[in-house]
Amino acid sequence: MATSLLGRDILDVQSLSNEEVKLIMDTAARFERAMDNGGRLMNMAGKTLATLFFEPSTRTRLSFETAMLRLGGSVISVADGGGSSSAKKGETVYDTGKMIESYADVAVIRHPVTGSAAELAAGSCKPVINGGDGAGQHPTQALLDLYTIIKEKGQVEGQTICLAGDLKNGRTVHSGAALLARMGVKFVFTAPEALAMPEPITESLRKDGVSVEIIPDLDEAVAKSDVLYMTRIQKERFTDPAEYERLKGSYEVTMQTVKNAKPGLTIMHPLPRVTEIKTEVDEYAGAAYFRQAANGVPVRMALLSLVCGCE
Ligand code: CP
Repeated sequence: MATSLLGRDILDVQSLSNEEVKLIMDTAARFERAMDNGGRLMNMAGKTLATLFFEPSTRTRLSFETAMLRLGGSVISVADGGGSSSAKKGETVYDTGKMIESYADVAVIRHPVTGSAAELAAGSCKPVINGGDGAGQHPTQALLDLYTIIKEKGQVEGQTICLAGDLKNGRTVHSGAALLARMGVKFVFTAPEALAMPEPITESLRKDGVSVEIIPDLDEAVAKSDVLYMTRIQKERFTDPAEYERLKGSYEVTMQTVKNAKPGLTIMHPLPRVTEIKTEVDEYAGAAYFRQAANGVPVRMALLSLVCGCE
């Protein structure tokens, strides 16, 4: 039977088979070529996307909305942290799902509480895509990260990938580690002790035979890595402001870091960045983070069209 994502919720990367991931990558590449050729796409004409963002976002919300518009579809939106929605009056995410299924063909949600995307999906009979739930998962980011590594490096298998920064709270690295582990990569984890990758994730990777080295020193880590995946220390996830102040400057990628790195290092970051990558690094040819963000559009075009059967 042909691989299909029709009607599916995209809540985490674990639920996607390797065949489904390949389908998403291939569909994204096809849409990217079509956009490069200036084609006008109408795959989602007559369909509506609801973007429900109860937490701030620039890239995820705008790239999903851009993706829908570039496919000829329409967008309805709850932004401003949900402040203008009835969540303010105590409406549950489940009930919001019950409403959204009448208004939209597909929904994307970002929410500060882990599990909220699953709650919306329980309420809605239409496909729900997780745009980031608390410190849980950010599956579409993991997919665009994979797409970026394929484009930047030519292949994923055999790459040594350093995940650095806030590995405790970073949902992008939680989803990314789970997805990339299946593609034959080796990992280096670089974090302050207080922000280390949660032990169950590291243990599960090692149990599956994935190589994971813990190297807290950034220079040492990049000297043996093909890709540096830098992340922000996430102020909004700290309960103790003093602890954030202690840890916020733990890492800073500079041109000196690049000079100490393995030749050809690719630098990625889900963005937004604060101080962890100096702007001087933007000129480095291997600085891929803005190209990575741009890749969000074709990957999200692929996801929207596949779950709606409009690919
Ligand atoms: N990478 C990412 O999720 O960015 P936003 O928070 O701006 O959506």
